[in-house]
Amino acid sequence: MAREPWLFASDIDNTLTGDEPALRELGATLADMRERGELVLFLVTGRRLDQVVPGFEAEGIPVPDAVVSQVGTEIYLPPYGATSRPLEAWDQLLRQRFNRAQAETFLEGVEGLEIQPARFNTPLKVSCYLDKAPDPHEAAATIARRVEPEAEAYQVVWSSGRDLDVIPAAAGKGRAIRFLIEHLSLKPRGVIVAGDSGNDRSMFDEFGRGIVVANAQDELAALRNDPAAAKDIDLYFARAPYAAGVAEGLRQFGVL
Ligand code: GLC
Ligand code: MG
Repeated sequence: MAREPWLFASDIDNTLTGDEPALRELGATLADMRERGELVLFLVTGRRLDQVVPGFEAEGIPVPDAVVSQVGTEIYLPPYGATSRPLEAWDQLLRQRFNRAQAETFLEGVEGLEIQPARFNTPLKVSCYLDKAPDPHEAAATIARRVEPEAEAYQVVWSSGRDLDVIPAAAGKGRAIRFLIEHLSLKPRGVIVAGDSGNDRSMFDEFGRGIVVANAQDELAALRNDPAAAKDIDLYFARAPYAAGVAEGLRQFGVL
């Protein structure tokens, strides 16, 4: 009997992208493995779907079995295109507890805060920039403290010292992948995740094996000094940045 495929779930920006020749080489390898039934590939990103699709050609991003977009608040299955609609079951689940107007109140009066452009703000995701705040980390901590009493409905995702997202507690990259595994009745022989920044953290918390690329932001690289993570997660800190680091990690885990 053929072995079950691996499931590889990867962030896009600064995890796959950043070194285009390395990405095109890795992308070709992953596409071959998918064709042979050895790999299920999910792209799990902060991008919108319409920022992912052109990248299949323009950036060498491999075509996946599913796209989890907008920081784990939308899921798309193939074929991907202008008429794609987010997976209804995931959308409905997230809408049960999330109220955009309430989510916006957590951001009120924070000095220097800028709301992100409308196309990055959706019914299920309130996103802002904090890099113009006097102390961005402190501003993020303030918002996180406000959300804390409502943690059953909302969560804060803090990335790259700049981006803050308020999304449903039930959402996020890690939970979206978990949902998809159920939804598609997958029984992978293992799940491996890869990322570079704070919005990737939930993938590492949810699954046992993860690749941190060498160019990772502090908030993800901090996994290195996190005793709880060291105990529960099989982490690989790549020596190389971007796609070359991802390939290094996939070799380490025996996928390549
Ligand atoms: C992407 C999204 C942005 C989000 C960031 C971090 O850049 O476009 O809205 O804040 O990822 O999650
Ligand atoms: Mg990234």
